[in-house]
Amino acid sequence: MKNKILFSVTIIVVFLLGLLASSIINRKSEAKYKYVPKVIIAENEPRNEIWGQNFPKEYQSSLRTADTSYVSYQGGSQMRDMLEEDPRLVILWAGYGFSKDYNQGRGHAYAIEDIHNTLRTGGPKGEGDGPMPATCWTCKSPDVPRLMNEKGITEFYSGKWADKGAEVVNSIGCADCHDPENMKLRITRPALVEAFDAMGKDINQVTHNEMRSLVCAQCHVEYYFNKNIPGKEGVPYLVFPWENGMTVEDMESYYDDIEFSDWTHALSKAPMLKAQHPGYEIFTTGVHADRGVSCADCHMPYKSEGGQKFTDHHIQSPLNNVSNACQVCHREESTKLIANVYERQQKAHENRLHLEDLLVKAHLEAKKCWDLGATEDQMDAILTDIRHAQWRWDYSAASHGGSFHSPVETARVIGGGIVVAQEARIKLARLLSALGYNEPIEMPDISTKEKAQEFIGLDIETLKAQKAEFKKTLLPKWLEEAKQREAGYDSKKVASASN
Ligand code: HEC
Ligand code: HEC
Ligand code: HEC
Ligand code: HEC
Repeated sequence: MKNKILFSVTIIVVFLLGLLASSIINRKSEAKYKYVPKVIIAENEPRNEIWGQNFPKEYQSSLRTADTSYVSYQGGSQMRDMLEEDPRLVILWAGYGFSKDYNQGRGHAYAIEDIHNTLRTGGPKGEGDGPMPATCWTCKSPDVPRLMNEKGITEFYSGKWADKGAEVVNSIGCADCHDPENMKLRITRPALVEAFDAMGKDINQVTHNEMRSLVCAQCHVEYYFNKNIPGKEGVPYLVFPWENGMTVEDMESYYDDIEFSDWTHALSKAPMLKAQHPGYEIFTTGVHADRGVSCADCHMPYKSEGGQKFTDHHIQSPLNNVSNACQVCHREESTKLIANVYERQQKAHENRLHLEDLLVKAHLEAKKCWDLGATEDQMDAILTDIRHAQWRWDYSAASHGGSFHSPVETARVIGGGIVVAQEARIKLARLLSALGYNEPIEMPDISTKEKAQEFIGLDIETLKAQKAEFKKTLLPKWLEEAKQREAGYDSKKVASASN
């Protein structure tokens, strides 16, 4: 009897101790996981490290976009010199900045460094100098929403790239996609809001799932600078050309209607369009978009660390992270999924190169026509074909990831480009023959980037020297000025946040 009582008491005591222990553990982990802000983030705070004090997991993972060790067949985080890999691009972009220097994108952490370094931004000596407008900063930094709030949108787009060099210094980050008050996803780039307006849609009505793609569509889209907006004449105002829709034909008709061209080709004199990176547009035509999969599902999948689930802010090629990025939905082996992606990319690439060859020839044949005394009337239809064919090539080439995001649409666009380029070359052959020339055009040696650049008459050494001078003199001044300014920002430490 005594033993039985002792036994029951022991059981009860052990049970109560267990309860106590589990409650302590719960409290502890509650304390550990309870969100206690360490700083009050100011409305326009551009510095990721300040946001990072409140959200260390998201911040730490975002720092990994600085890792440049991963290479895939077409993408990855390494800096790849695309002109070196394919010197034909130099011919396609003759007369335009991209023929000077074009590297494949790497991680978000490099957005500022890479725009400082590219030869396309030149070597400005001070305010008002250099080839690029201030608008070029728009997709690089959380300093952009800050400046737009402080100065106004049109004022932000006004002036030269160099004018805002000391202002835009923090690489893509938290304030680009989040509201500091409640961390909700938000759109900070007016061009996207205005493009929705132009299509008769209200971006405030979109679903949370759509926002998980639209935050990316602030930058990974086709755009141009419109200098003819009534009341804002002369300002290179950023516009997404979606008024007629987002397909290659919709945007082409938009540009044709307003007779817009990015530049005049140095060899063929065609009024060219440079597709920027219509990544979002082409994605929306694919099967993943159709099934409601968002950019963030593959490029920012959930991750678990120390029992905590959070959104991985290491935005990168999903092929470097197949288990989290794909295998939540697909049961296939990782090697098989990667092979599926490569197969789509390789097949699109094969035809894209055919189109490229046709375009190189068309530009050179058109140049020959001019040299032989062709008139503008004779050239008009040919140059329109060249414009339209290269627009199709660029739309498919520049929509990074497009041949996986939407392989069928990508193939259709390239196929259409091949047809138009062939039509241009039939017209060219007829005109050449009318001008008394009946042989194939001699092709220059463009087997390396250097040879191709020399052929189009680029003086790369001078451009490099100007860039080096800029990095030695003006750039350090920008960075120093930024440091001084940021020392006066008003994000506040929360006094009681000792844990
Ligand atoms: C179903 C998964 C998936 C979705 C959804 C998705 N992507 Fe991708 N994305 C990929 C894959 C796979 C690649 C190819 C990566 C490679 O070649 O290394 C890629 C490539 C890219 C690239 C080029 C990256 C590189 O390393 O070259 C960019 C930029 C990109 N995607 C942006 C987006 C944007 C913006 C969206 C939404 C509009 C989106 N992606 C939606 C899977 C996805
Ligand atoms: C504020 C503009 C901006 C936003 C917003 C943005 N990006 Fe980017 N993204 C860039 C720029 C600029 C680069 C190129 C950086 C470099 O190479 O210097 C880039 C690069 C990338 C790359 C690497 C490209 C490569 O070839 O490896 C991927 C992948 C990518 N972004 C995906 C996304 C996804 C997914 C989203 C949305 C969750 C997103 N980005 C939102 C501007 C942006
Ligand atoms: C290119 C856009 C983009 C940038 C830049 C970005 N985020 Fe996010 N963030 C997202 C998306 C998308 C989600 C998922 C939101 C959802 O589905 O509710 C997210 C989710 C979060 C969440 C919610 C918790 C979680 O992990 O899901 C926090 C907190 C957060 N981000 C913090 C940050 C911080 C801190 C930074 C800067 C270091 C940052 N984010 C930069 C797009 C971005
Ligand atoms: C959120 C779920 C989801 C994620 C994440 C996802 N997929 Fe898919 N994927 C789908 C759905 C749904 C389909 C459409 C086929 C279907 O309905 O069965 C699909 C279709 C495909 C297809 C065939 C379509 C085509 O383009 O030919 C491939 C290949 C594919 N996915 C690869 C991938 C890879 C690689 C990743 C990771 C980078 C990935 N998916 C991530 C849901 C997902």
